[in-house]
Amino acid sequence: MDTPDAAPLDLIIFGGTGDLAWRKLLPALYMAHLHGSLGERHRIVGLGRHDWSRRQYVEFVDRMSRPVVEPAAMQPLHWQDFLRRLDYVQLDATQPEGFERLKGACQPDGAKVFYLATAPSLFTAITARLHEAGLVDARSRVVLEKPLGHDLASARAINEAVARHFEERQIYRIDHYLGKETVQNLMVLRFGNAIYEPMWRTPYVRSVQITVAETVGVGTRAGFYDGTGAMRDMVQNHLLQLLCIVAMEPPISLDADDVRDEKLKVLRSLRRLGPAQLRHDTVRGQYTAGTVDGQPVPGYQQEDGVPAGSRTETFVALRAHIDNARWAGVPFYLRTGKRMPRRQSEIIVEFTQPPFSIFAGQSGMEQANRLVITLQPEESIRLQMMAKEPGSGMRMRPVFLNLDLQSAFTERRAEAYERLLIDVVRGRLTHFMRRDELEAAWKWADPILQGWAETNDAPKPYPAGSWGPPAASALVARENVLWSEAQ
Ligand code: BG6
Repeated sequence: MDTPDAAPLDLIIFGGTGDLAWRKLLPALYMAHLHGSLGERHRIVGLGRHDWSRRQYVEFVDRMSRPVVEPAAMQPLHWQDFLRRLDYVQLDATQPEGFERLKGACQPDGAKVFYLATAPSLFTAITARLHEAGLVDARSRVVLEKPLGHDLASARAINEAVARHFEERQIYRIDHYLGKETVQNLMVLRFGNAIYEPMWRTPYVRSVQITVAETVGVGTRAGFYDGTGAMRDMVQNHLLQLLCIVAMEPPISLDADDVRDEKLKVLRSLRRLGPAQLRHDTVRGQYTAGTVDGQPVPGYQQEDGVPAGSRTETFVALRAHIDNARWAGVPFYLRTGKRMPRRQSEIIVEFTQPPFSIFAGQSGMEQANRLVITLQPEESIRLQMMAKEPGSGMRMRPVFLNLDLQSAFTERRAEAYERLLIDVVRGRLTHFMRRDELEAAWKWADPILQGWAETNDAPKPYPAGSWGPPAASALVARENVLWSEAQ
């Protein structure tokens, strides 16, 4: 499936005038263009419902996407060259005519990548119409944006429908967290170094924490978000994917299926949280008015487009268990929220204390070793160790062994979407989700969502700019664990 750069290829974006396209995909494609990752005959066809000419679309992209590109990378001549790759076709996914127009706009001998950056409810109709119009062949690929479905049943229905016209090797289910540099680096950390692996298990690991905290609120996305919530928007995909990479067994190679086989086993080993555990092991929250970055911000229910009395969660914290030999008894704490005090995505592997302390009774605080992998905003890997304070006596203090990836590597770091789009163009599937993986993730998430819906509990309020409801601290405190900001 590797497409040589010289071969013609059309990258066709459904939802070509939408937020994702102008904010993320087109700037990422420009970066790929700038750095020579696109071939001469790689073209981009935006699709949308507006009755626009190619020129109007180019003006739209120029107006909307140009300011999003990092200023240092905005080179006007290259940008103009990039805009020459663009075409536009008016298309309403529910009507056949647009698909005929699309056919006419494609390069006759080219491979086609269909990027479905639309609501998942349209995926079935789009793939069927692509097939009817004769646009799908063995070289075609389809990229499916998240959220893929609303629950297991709808995800299965979409997968089923897409599988009628595309083989699994042609389907790229995107989770942009898998395109992040540090997430890919985590595989190297684990499997390219010998020192961690022997201890990467029970009884040496005491707990694992995965936090994805954002300062942003729901913004202009209430229409989408209010029917989705943090569990479907973040936990079912991004956080579970991070958990898989932390917890999986070493794959036998980096081939897509070898990696995905191991991730699937982790997802299948996740303990189901039944109604009895939900109260104990999960916390849902919703932000109220508060202050973030020194600015007063409204509560979720006061955001534009959010219905009064909404019970959608903007925060989730939960305790998960992986029932297999490596992780038996090790809690995995997952947490994500909007309107938190700072943007911070990190994974913390907390190791157990030395089995016997000869320092007991000495002054100073003996703390467990912790490996802190920060994904955002800056990438770093730090190992907390105990060291002796200089001076007489044996006072101890935790210090960090610090790997600052920004200064260790001066090379440019591609954004997640750029890296993943290049993978699609080149036909590399390793960093995309396979069907069984996605369905296994829903199988775990579904009972949680159902349990919450049945109890109909309102999410617990937390002021914007805080680390979530107090119940989230209580969740970890029961096992004498602290969230990272409290350590
Ligand atoms: C998206 C979610 O998938 O990820 C958004 O839909 C969220 O709600 C975003 O803000 C976070 O991505 P990143 O890369 O900014 O951490």
